[in-house]
Amino acid sequence: MRQAGRYLPEYRALRARYGFLELCHNPAAAAEVTLQPVERLGVDAAILFADILLLVEPLDRGLEFGKGEGPIIHRPIRSETDVAALAPIDVDEAVPFVFETVRMVTGALGGRVPLIGFAGAPFTVASYLVEGGPSRDYLHTKRLMYESPEAWRRLMEILAGATARYLNGQIAAGADAVQLFDSWIGVLSPDDYRAYVLPHVRSLIAALAPGTPVIHFGTGTAALLRLMREAGGDVIGLDWRIDLDTGWDLVGHDVGVQGNLDPAVLLGPPALIRARVKSVLDRAGGRPGHIFNLGHGVHRETPVDHVRAMVDLVHELSARR
Ligand code: CP3
Repeated sequence: MRQAGRYLPEYRALRARYGFLELCHNPAAAAEVTLQPVERLGVDAAILFADILLLVEPLDRGLEFGKGEGPIIHRPIRSETDVAALAPIDVDEAVPFVFETVRMVTGALGGRVPLIGFAGAPFTVASYLVEGGPSRDYLHTKRLMYESPEAWRRLMEILAGATARYLNGQIAAGADAVQLFDSWIGVLSPDDYRAYVLPHVRSLIAALAPGTPVIHFGTGTAALLRLMREAGGDVIGLDWRIDLDTGWDLVGHDVGVQGNLDPAVLLGPPALIRARVKSVLDRAGGRPGHIFNLGHGVHRETPVDHVRAMVDLVHELSARR
């Protein structure tokens, strides 16, 4: 989940000096941002500071991070011709700075807590490339998928291959676990997931270096969880729209689950936060294989002391079991 970002004053201070992409491209600064939540919150893992779209910057479609509304792609990919014109992604040339950030962070952490690397899953990354930015209905993406299945398959193959090399590069540089973010996958029906996404996610996960845990996350996935599990991952990330125990039953108890407090709960008063944290832990029932987490990233309006209180509470309540 995103745990760095604008709710942290020390992040805002760095962002006053660097643009977002500039920050990502600067390993020393990106390593500093990665460590901020570890120092400030006492979380049990660091999450690499990067972005899911860094990998597709070299496709040269005009990636920009505008003021607050999320990423923009100025020259979206809308047709078979656009897909045919895509150059292959040379990962070592495209994102050496990310691997350097991983090395700097693991050096600085010295094993205190593990580092989670990550990448965007092919569908979610493609949705930005095709829509040109965030979307509600993902109609351009679905049109390409339905009208030009061969071009869609080609696009998924390019992204899945590059993403596997990217995550393996992070693992080689020292990441202890990796998370695949399919943040917007919940917009698809189960049939579409099966036909247009599952085979690509499966081959991506199968190509990852064995021995490093893989967390597979999406939002709005209540109807897709079994299929996501089929696609792969040692841990399935749950958002807050499903009860954690129901989600765990769906994916099966032979995989772990991560989640799933609604990040908006952190805007509420301490008593509510306490009750909701307790509810998530109760639903996990002390079983091994649960990673407490938010169901999605921290909202920028969130008071830092509420996030800190949540972390302390999770430690307090899970130590008692
Ligand atoms: O420690 C961490 O939390 C790691 C950082 C992280 C970022 N992006 C930094 C970031 C991670 C894990 C991501 C992944 C990412 N990026 C996802 C998947 C996770 C998710 O939240 O679903 C997605 C969909 C993106 C694309 C993206 N990047 C969006 C939608 C936005 C805008 C969000 C906003 O709050 O405006 C970004 C920008 C971004 N990525 C920020 C950060 C800290 C905020 C940018 C800023 O400083 O202006």
